[in-house]
Amino acid sequence: MVRRIVVVGSGVMGRGIAYVSAAGGFVTMLVDIKEEQLQSAKKEIDAIFDKAVSLNKISEAAKLEAQARLSYSTNLAEAVQTADLVIEAVPEKLEIKKQIFETIDAHAPQACYFATNTSTMSPTEIASFTKRPEKVIAMHFFNPVHKMKLVEIIRGLETSDETAEVIQQVAEQMGKETVVVNEFPGFVTSRISALVGNEAFYMLQEGVGTPDQIDKAIKLGLNYPMGPFELADLVGLDTRLNNLKYLHEKLGEKYRPAPLLEQYVKAGRLGRKTGKGVYDYTNKE
Ligand SMILES: NC(=O)c1ccc[n+]([C@@H]2O[C@H](COP(=O)([O-])OP(=O)(O)OC[C@H]3O[C@@H](n4cnc5c(N)ncnc54)[C@H](O)[C@@H]3O)[C@@H](O)[C@H]2O)c1
Repeated sequence: MVRRIVVVGSGVMGRGIAYVSAAGGFVTMLVDIKEEQLQSAKKEIDAIFDKAVSLNKISEAAKLEAQARLSYSTNLAEAVQTADLVIEAVPEKLEIKKQIFETIDAHAPQACYFATNTSTMSPTEIASFTKRPEKVIAMHFFNPVHKMKLVEIIRGLETSDETAEVIQQVAEQMGKETVVVNEFPGFVTSRISALVGNEAFYMLQEGVGTPDQIDKAIKLGLNYPMGPFELADLVGLDTRLNNLKYLHEKLGEKYRPAPLLEQYVKAGRLGRKTGKGVYDYTNKE
């Protein structure tokens, strides 16, 4: 039974996962290498709790209980020593994920399950960094985690039925719907989303329209809840570029990242998290 969850990486996704984990009743620890990231995560998580109370989604008492279940640390090896499940949400770079999985494999109890929040990568390959591949799975959350209903669960080659069932139950206890699919680069959702988002950057580069015009056309004409540039800014342009590079390598030419996207990333325009991406957020909110 899963009671204690460690979330590794307190960026855009990790902080949201830590919130739904604590709100779902799990004793949760959020880990990052950067202390300032943890501080900003705590601020954002507390704001989400306050909003949930003001909207009558949870009571003040439930909020305080959930906050008491949540702690923060920069010491990964120590944090995972009593964990039942570790959910990794560090950048989409294989060498970083490898280092994390080797560390948690060395320090977590043998019974502990491992999940990766990768958007595109192979859970089989990630599992190969550990000596417990049957306990490793991909648990793909969506951004913003506290609002999005789905967790896409992707089994690796060696993932056991038991692991898949436990992870499905955990996601449900976090208030999410699940879909369990088989491994292929990009799974279901990232494969489509990366393609649409990349195509939008090619259109912008070709001068087909402004970001506003392209977003409006896609939202109102195709009934998407967000435009591709609004979504890219929310996801993070660096994360989107990393996803595309991986899919380009695995699935071929149609995923070649648009040069304009690469240019934005080089300029440090990473989206909402840096205040500027395709759109400028510095004078808003
Ligand atoms: N952003 C999205 O919309 C989204 C959606 C679904 C899945 N994902 C996936 O989730 C993962 C994380 O993405 P993100 O957008 O949250 O990234 P992010 O860049 O916002 O956050 C990553 C965090 O990991 C921390 N980190 C880096 N190295 C670390 C280490 N060795 N130990 C501990 N912490 C470390 C960083 O300090 C940072 O706080 C990626 O695999 C990404 O593909 C992202």
